[in-house]
Amino acid sequence: MMIAGASLVATLALAAAPAFCFPWDIDMYRGPAVQPYEVAPRVTPVDTLPVNGEPPISLEMATVKLHNPLQPTPENLEAGKQLFLTNCAPCHGAGGEGNGPVTKILIKPSKNVIAGASKNLPDGYIYGAITDGILTMPSYADSLPPHQRWQVVLYVRSIQQAASAAPAH
Ligand code: HEC
Repeated sequence: MMIAGASLVATLALAAAPAFCFPWDIDMYRGPAVQPYEVAPRVTPVDTLPVNGEPPISLEMATVKLHNPLQPTPENLEAGKQLFLTNCAPCHGAGGEGNGPVTKILIKPSKNVIAGASKNLPDGYIYGAITDGILTMPSYADSLPPHQRWQVVLYVRSIQQAASAAPAH
């Protein structure tokens, strides 16, 4: 009886206790640190983006709105080549003919990107395709920053030109 009574009193005491029961409960809260929103967040200057962010854009909008900001310098073409060989060649083949080793196991095979209709695709479309992916092609939005995607576009353009310049078999 006495034990039951004591535990009832203890339960009531706990239930009635304020949020901060002990002085040391709020030591951390009252510390010298800057409290959340005590200082207003910095105002972002107009026309700027977070370093690791880009506004989402549909493939249709990318196709008409985006233009390659880079020039086909030897450095950009070489960087684009290395990126293409690493990221795209497994499906599209080292030469871009759509014959990479992985393409056999895809439900939807990759395409020849150096001949046919691909040559008429605007730069913005290729950029948008790399950014968002198409069908079984993955998105590279997280693995290639925008300037690397544009370097790949430059390289794809250069191998398309080389293919058109080569004599037909
Ligand atoms: C996992 C395989 C795979 C990888 C990796 C891949 N692609 Fe693709 N790609 C595809 C498939 C599948 C399609 C869609 C083919 C279709 O529409 O029939 C495609 C379509 C494209 C197209 C549009 C072709 C057209 O004529 O419509 C382009 C351009 C392209 N890829 C470029 C790239 C580039 C550049 C990379 C590297 C950054 C890349 N792809 C990586 C599988 C891949």
